Amino acid sequence: MEEATQEELTRRSFLTRSIVAAGGLITALFAGVGGGYFLSPLWNKKKESWIDLGLTSDFKEGVPKKVDFTVRKKDAWATIESKSSAWIVTTDKKSFIAFDPKCTHLGCPYRWNDEKKQFLCPCHTATFSVDGKVISGPPPRPLDRYPTKVVGSHLMILPDISKEAKV
Ligand code: FES
Repeated sequence: MEEATQEELTRRSFLTRSIVAAGGLITALFAGVGGGYFLSPLWNKKKESWIDLGLTSDFKEGVPKKVDFTVRKKDAWATIESKSSAWIVTTDKKSFIAFDPKCTHLGCPYRWNDEKKQFLCPCHTATFSVDGKVISGPPPRPLDRYPTKVVGSHLMILPDISKEAKV
């Protein structure tokens, strides 16, 4: 068997090192792209998800209307859907208030009484005014509100009461 010359050894070791380096580069590339893809939900900023509640013309001045909607939240790789609702109040069809439908005492659902022009909570007989202030009963604060905005002719709601300052 012939012995390899110094030049062949150099060429062979150069090729071996090149192949190892290329393999390492490709591995690093896949690890970076794949890792970024799988980890991106963890560092992506959460976007505000406004929900369209329909035309502003569908609401009557001074008459609260309960509207149901679906909230979709992304939790890393999963999308979780939940049903929710809000009481919508407007006096001019330009500005809108959206109340969380849970009483601020212990969370019972309340309803609008059109005769008395008040929200009534049946659990401990609390009453709230049309603008959400406590009239009577044990609730410690006014009704909680969702942020709202009007886009074109549509009423939008952000289903997160923590974003709206408590009144
Ligand atoms: S839960 Fe509404 S008054 Fe107690």
